[in-house]
Amino acid sequence: MKTNNKTSERGGFGSRIGFILAAAGSAVGLGNIWRFPYLAAKYGGGIFLLVYLIFAITFGFALMLTEIAIGRKTGKSVIGAYKAVDKRFSPLGLLAAVIPALILPYYCVIGGWVLKYMSVFITESGESIPFFSNFISHFTQPTIFFIIFLLLTSVAVFLGVEKGIEKVSEFLMPVLLLLIVAMSVYTLTLDGAGEGLKYYLLPNLNDFTPAKFLQTIAAACGQLFYSMSIAMGIMVTYGSYMRKEDSLEGSVRQIEIFDTAVAILAGMIIVPAVFIFSNGDSTSINAGPGLMFNTLPKVFATMPAGQFIGTAFFILVTLAALTSSISLMETVTAVVIEKFGFSRTKSCIIVIFVTFILGMLSVLGYSAWSDIKLFGMQILDFFDFITNNIMMPVLAFLTCILIGYVVKIKYIEEEVMLGEKRFRSKLLYNVMIKFICPVCMLMILITPFVTDI
Ligand code: PFF
Repeated sequence: MKTNNKTSERGGFGSRIGFILAAAGSAVGLGNIWRFPYLAAKYGGGIFLLVYLIFAITFGFALMLTEIAIGRKTGKSVIGAYKAVDKRFSPLGLLAAVIPALILPYYCVIGGWVLKYMSVFITESGESIPFFSNFISHFTQPTIFFIIFLLLTSVAVFLGVEKGIEKVSEFLMPVLLLLIVAMSVYTLTLDGAGEGLKYYLLPNLNDFTPAKFLQTIAAACGQLFYSMSIAMGIMVTYGSYMRKEDSLEGSVRQIEIFDTAVAILAGMIIVPAVFIFSNGDSTSINAGPGLMFNTLPKVFATMPAGQFIGTAFFILVTLAALTSSISLMETVTAVVIEKFGFSRTKSCIIVIFVTFILGMLSVLGYSAWSDIKLFGMQILDFFDFITNNIMMPVLAFLTCILIGYVVKIKYIEEEVMLGEKRFRSKLLYNVMIKFICPVCMLMILITPFVTDI
């Protein structure tokens, strides 16, 4: 009886397209819209794009396929899944549960900032947008918007996989795609956009030293990892809800195409817009993380129909961030349901509570506790750093070892064959999991300690 209960608490996706849109919803997030364009601009435009694309179809494909296959084969949340693959690798399941539990709080804090910007654009023009560092240094507003974003996220998770996550993704993802296509078309019609587009798409070989090339490779590798929601337990969890008869290889390719297309289109909006605004001064495009919250609102304020465009842009970012935070919350909730046998509602409430407490640390880290530095970082940056630069590469590295050398590729192949006549990318997959992915993971682990990316 208890097992039945648990199974019904788990649920599953009702259709292939539902799964693809939900997984794409997880992958398409702040990483695509805020991080990808500034990295591309910083690392030589077309060169970065090319390196990124090669990585996406090779090692990104292999890692995503691995996680989804592990999830579907075991039919469990991350903790149970890694244990079911090999008992000795059980600690990996714990790591895969801790990672989203640490990311979700600060992701919702940033989601709150985006909500705030959206609400300002809806009600006023971009000129009155708050100065970013001033806004986040307060306590009340960032807290309120953080709570709203957290509650919005939890609605889909409360409703369950098919009725919540799948339905929300089936509605939000096409809206997101329409918005981003319409906005990039609009930006490209502005005077001077062509120059910005060239800067973004053509390889920029000026001062491109071998050292910079290595940095570009590491940055593209890291971005891929971040963008595809790899090594945070999400794809294992979503995979566990996937129908057995659906094609794994085909689904992974479609998720990747969706994710990469959105990232490239986001750059087509942001880079030309900032380029026109700054009269071609590349330093404003290279502004890094501040680009979305400082530079862009000012750019929108000077554009024709700026308030409308600004509103559309921040709605777009909100939708992207929301479907990603839903996937993070679902991963943690699935663990609580399975581990403690609680109902979905009770598990969700526990997750919201813990997320709220941890998220408040990040809010306070910019306001009352701004003097506190962890290894020289703000609290939010610290959470971001230990998850993205340390825990995730470690998890991905050990997952490659587990699949490549312990249970062997056959383990994944059997699962792929359930929905396919043959494993088309077997050779590529083999080489990636055994050799290339582990090396890339080690590179991501080492790079922040030896260079300044
Ligand atoms: N893949 C999503 C994004 O690109 O924003 C979600 C995500 C990435 C969440 C990285 C958290 C994270 F650290």
